[in-house]
Amino acid sequence: KEKLTTVKLKEMKSTNRRISMVTAYDYPTARAVEDSGADVILVGDSLGMVVLGHETTLPVTLDDMIHHTRAVKRGAKNTFVVTDMPFLSANISIPETVRNAGRIIQEAGADAVKLEGGREMIDEIRALMKANIPVMGHLGLTPQAVNQLGGFKLQGKDVESAKRIFEDALFLQEAGCFAIVLELVPTPLATMISEHLTIPTIGIGAGAGCDGQVLVIHDLLGITNDYMPRFVKKYGNLYETMVDAVKSYNQEVRDGVFPGSAHEFGMKDEVVAALKK
Ligand code: KIV
Ligand code: NA
Repeated sequence: KEKLTTVKLKEMKSTNRRISMVTAYDYPTARAVEDSGADVILVGDSLGMVVLGHETTLPVTLDDMIHHTRAVKRGAKNTFVVTDMPFLSANISIPETVRNAGRIIQEAGADAVKLEGGREMIDEIRALMKANIPVMGHLGLTPQAVNQLGGFKLQGKDVESAKRIFEDALFLQEAGCFAIVLELVPTPLATMISEHLTIPTIGIGAGAGCDGQVLVIHDLLGITNDYMPRFVKKYGNLYETMVDAVKSYNQEVRDGVFPGSAHEFGMKDEVVAALKK
């Protein structure tokens, strides 16, 4: 399989081929996602919620992102990997932003970084361009701003906020982003943005008018049985599969059925006899 590049991702938009992006946070999942033929893997800071069990993405650190990106890269050597810049890692100063993104590229091996925010981030994005670090933008519901936004809610519902998101998308394109995630915005707004931009949009809860889609792998596979937002489609029910498999194991251990002869190791008769003396 040929690994994508930022250039090829932009070509996909111009030739009307939709981009399929999915998250992964560890080696086995990355292997499965690569084998599926997905276009892009996102090591999202959703890690904090779906893997580490936090309520929000805010507790995730840069070191967490680097640690998990390394595992993903070992499992998906031929897939384009984008890693989220976590809370505060792109917000303190331009030098810190470049240094942090640089670690994600250099130490973890990601192909690009993703950062949340609109016009207020363009100086940071320009500095990353100057450092040859490709940037994916993220607009609409930006979960690192959950305490400002007052919850995980649909964004861009009225004229003023929709216009702001639309303009922010143009600002991000102008600053050099190679793609933009649009999260939890109404379909007509996401479609208008997608039609106006020359770079691809990747939607989540943003409708079918985007140039690509992204889902969190735990939601897609049904790995957890937590509350699922409306924009998620479950393509599997791994939670049930996991509980059932472990139940069977528990039962077989308690009944003395596992391990069976196929899973154990014998010893030569003379060795056993010598031990018994
Ligand atoms: O962290 C994440 O998984 C994301 C996607 C939902 C876009 O940012
Ligand atoms: Na994220």
